[in-house]
Amino acid sequence: MTIQIAGTGSALPERVLTNANLENMVETSDEWIRERTGIEQRHISDQDTVASLAAKAAKEALAAAGKTPADVDLILLATCSPEKLLPCCACQVQSILGANRAVAFDLNAACSGFLFALETAYAYLTTGLYRNALVIGSEVLSKIIDWNDRSTCILFGDGAGAVYVEGATEPGHGLCSMVQGSDGTKGDVLSCAVRSGEYVTMDGREVYRFATKQVPLCIEEAIEKAGWEVTDVDFFVLHQANLRIIESISKRLKIGMEHFPVNVTKVGNTSSAAIPILLDELVKSGKIEKGNKLVLSGFGAGLTYGACTMIW
Ligand code: ACO
Repeated sequence: MTIQIAGTGSALPERVLTNANLENMVETSDEWIRERTGIEQRHISDQDTVASLAAKAAKEALAAAGKTPADVDLILLATCSPEKLLPCCACQVQSILGANRAVAFDLNAACSGFLFALETAYAYLTTGLYRNALVIGSEVLSKIIDWNDRSTCILFGDGAGAVYVEGATEPGHGLCSMVQGSDGTKGDVLSCAVRSGEYVTMDGREVYRFATKQVPLCIEEAIEKAGWEVTDVDFFVLHQANLRIIESISKRLKIGMEHFPVNVTKVGNTSSAAIPILLDELVKSGKIEKGNKLVLSGFGAGLTYGACTMIW
């Protein structure tokens, strides 16, 4: 038995912050940001919270799957920017949706969070503990970013993406293989303390090195586990941290950029929300079609990384 995604959704805050806006806030330029990251703009929350964005995305995913909140067994919410330590964001989402039967809790694996949550859902559903799950990635990173630090504030954006998953109904569809990894010895490379009110700090070069080396390796492992060739994959739906990182992964795998959809240019790095936001965009635009072979892969603070393969 495996699981399949039956509906997707996403939500972005209304306010757009362009590179030109950032030029008035820190010593930077549109040219520098585009060259080093590919990012042109990002969405920034004024009133939206991690839970409110997550609930909007979840409602869309439920509607797309033809389900109601009463159907939901499990809500897994990946975030690294919750406004509150207690209660967890997933319980806030449960309350907003009125998904009264659901068991709800948060997971934090930074930018790998959505992938880790999806794989947790796989474990729950394939053991028969629950029949379905809402898996959500949601972030309001703008509140934990130092807007005076040009090395980080240009990168991140706010948003949420969600999927509704259930047991695969057709043979040959759904999640095929998974690879996950963590390296706690590199925790300092990307960190943010909670109680002292500190902001995100990052060794950008180290993250870059880690991502461009580790992500192709775990993608190749997931593909091998699925019994596929790299050339079989229609789309690599990668964590949207930086266009240069995605281009480097495409080069290492020797697969053209047409197989690597990108929206980091318009939404920036939304951490755990990045993969489901992009997935939703691809589904809504009709780019992903039934039977397509996909690789989802993320990496982030922890350090953490992972990849999975699925047939849509
Ligand atoms: N505008 C202008 N200049 C800048 C800016 C900026 N926004 N930021 C840094 N600089 C300067 C630096 O001060 C440095 O100046 P110096 O040469 O006088 O010392 C110069 O630009 C080069 O700085 P580097 O940090 O070496 O620049 P680099 O080419 O490595 O690019 C970047 C920086 C874009 C952050 C890159 O390292 C990167 O993409 N790393 C990965 C980051 C990432 O993806 N993080 C998130 C992943 S995990 C997650 O999603 C949570």
